[in-house]
Amino acid sequence: MTAPQDFNDRMLSLGLARVSEAAAHASARLIGRGDEKAADQAAVNAMRDQLNMLDIRGVVVIGEGERDEAPMLFIGEEVGTGNGPEVDIALDPLEGTTLTAKDMPNALTVIAMAPRGTLLHAPDVYMDKLAVGPGYPVDVVSLDMAPAERVRALAAARGCAPSDITVCILERPRHEDLIAEVRQTGAAIRLITDGDVAGVIHCAEAALTGIDMYMGSGGAPEGVLAASALKCMGGQMWGRLLFRNADEKGRARKAGITDLDRIYARDDLVTDDVIFAATGVTDGSIVAGVKREPGYLTTETILMRSKTGSVRRMTYRNPVR
Ligand code: FBP
Repeated sequence: MTAPQDFNDRMLSLGLARVSEAAAHASARLIGRGDEKAADQAAVNAMRDQLNMLDIRGVVVIGEGERDEAPMLFIGEEVGTGNGPEVDIALDPLEGTTLTAKDMPNALTVIAMAPRGTLLHAPDVYMDKLAVGPGYPVDVVSLDMAPAERVRALAAARGCAPSDITVCILERPRHEDLIAEVRQTGAAIRLITDGDVAGVIHCAEAALTGIDMYMGSGGAPEGVLAASALKCMGGQMWGRLLFRNADEKGRARKAGITDLDRIYARDDLVTDDVIFAATGVTDGSIVAGVKREPGYLTTETILMRSKTGSVRRMTYRNPVR
């Protein structure tokens, strides 16, 4: 049988869910074992094996690192059976390696797929990120606003007081001033120790998660993954690459980026239809973590398509072999 050539083939999205499920399944036995590397490696191996069964001509554009530092799922690696549509793949087999090792909430396996040439080839540098959920006017906040101004603008758009807004921020020394400024507005802050893909996604389901806005710097590759999710769920996001030295600027240029100061809106990070799948490794507000019972593992996956705006949550119970 010939493989479908259409990127928006609906069965392909189910294949993508299998890929993220497999990674979560494989890392499950390493939850709470204090070994980040082993958990990550298990997820990488399983994700790659499943990905190579998909009928796609895929290229990893957001992956485990440059070819010389990552033997598998490196940037530029060709994946899939070689039949089917030409696609870009962005992945993080284990988003939250430390969360997994310490059995803390919101560790996910994450993968996004889009037509070839439509996902930003983000270098492995930091990105200043800002995100809000759906239902707000376009550009309700911006990266050029001071943090306090963003809180006030979002509160005005929602018709509430700044003290009714909750902002999610990664707890890092580099964010001390940001945290202090947001606190001065009276807004609440949900501090997370890791996992800003989940942090951004939380904005898309504010009623469920209690988070209205995401702010702060984290990995640029994670920024593309988060933008892919928001494109499916609704919500706005902006990112600006941050460079600490000439080497990082060189990496961006190597990835084809010429304007180093550019602010990318969500649809600049992901310029066409995208499919996104994430499976919970540890329990989180988006999806439940892996559950064990004698002989079985159960995972929960969120699978979304931007073309239709469909969001599926799927539970998968599978015997442990
Ligand atoms: P890992 O899963 O690779 O450990 O990354 C987790 C993470 O928290 C990301 O979600 C985030 O973008 C990045 O690390 C932040 O980087 P840093 O720890 O250097 O602040």
